[in-house]
Amino acid sequence: MLDTVTAQALENQAFEIKPSPSGIGAEVIGIDLSKPLSDQDSKRISDAFNDHSVLVYRAQHLTPEQHIAFSRRWGTVQVNVRGEFNKPGYPEIYIVSNVIENGKPIGSQDAGRYWHTDICYLPKPTKCSLLYAHELPGQGLGDTMFASNIHPYEKLPERVKQRLAGKTAANSYRYMYDRKAAEFGLRPKLSQQEMKKYPDDAIHPVIRTHPETARKCIFVCEGYTTHILGMPNEESDELLGMLFEAVQQPGNVYRHKWQLGDLLQWDNCAVQHKVSFDYQLPLRRRLERTTVEAKDVPY
Ligand code: SIN
Repeated sequence: MLDTVTAQALENQAFEIKPSPSGIGAEVIGIDLSKPLSDQDSKRISDAFNDHSVLVYRAQHLTPEQHIAFSRRWGTVQVNVRGEFNKPGYPEIYIVSNVIENGKPIGSQDAGRYWHTDICYLPKPTKCSLLYAHELPGQGLGDTMFASNIHPYEKLPERVKQRLAGKTAANSYRYMYDRKAAEFGLRPKLSQQEMKKYPDDAIHPVIRTHPETARKCIFVCEGYTTHILGMPNEESDELLGMLFEAVQQPGNVYRHKWQLGDLLQWDNCAVQHKVSFDYQLPLRRRLERTTVEAKDVPY
């Protein structure tokens, strides 16, 4: 999967992969992502990513170019549709921050309020996201939580799996935008005309197959999924409520406590995530995110 044109000649790095006791995620300790990776190191990382769904690369020192270059090793890097928080000079980098400069937010202040998978509102959602910590509010504040989409599916009763088989659901950017505008007041209320600049709903399978591991994943989230197609609203609400609850069980969650220099990479098919908004200015939180487009539409 990783681009390995010249990688055969490169030396392997000495790094350790330490799985989290939560059963989701692993730390990658001792790797330097500013350097090109050998074939063997790329394969170790790729395999670890498929096994653990979230990788925490500790103690990185990356320029924006290096952040983008490492992201490109996984596929085509996306440019966020919102635009206003793309890093100046680096449209592939999306800023997530509570910081206000010259009276204006420098990044998205409300990213991660609800459980979600990144960019599932597009026909080709995001394969993985890579979020790099630049400023943090303090130990144990602004944690990011990751929930497996795989384990709760495996625990569903057979009759529920059968009810969900072949079903699709609508995932809506505009629904999320309006909800956040109303609930947190950090986004301007947009007219119907302005809303047209954003994509139409994306229809994806409720249960999708992971393109690399072939494991079944729940692919609905409270942030973007509005309804399951082809059934009455009450039935759709009931099923979605049950799936959201199954995913969000505390025992199904890895809570990432950030350290400066962490680069976090997560698989948007295998996990969904949410941020803990338990800090405020003058405590500053600034992270920079790239997202890598999936190769195929979900199936
Ligand atoms: C996001 O990508 O949803 C933001 C995650 C974070 O701020 O930790």
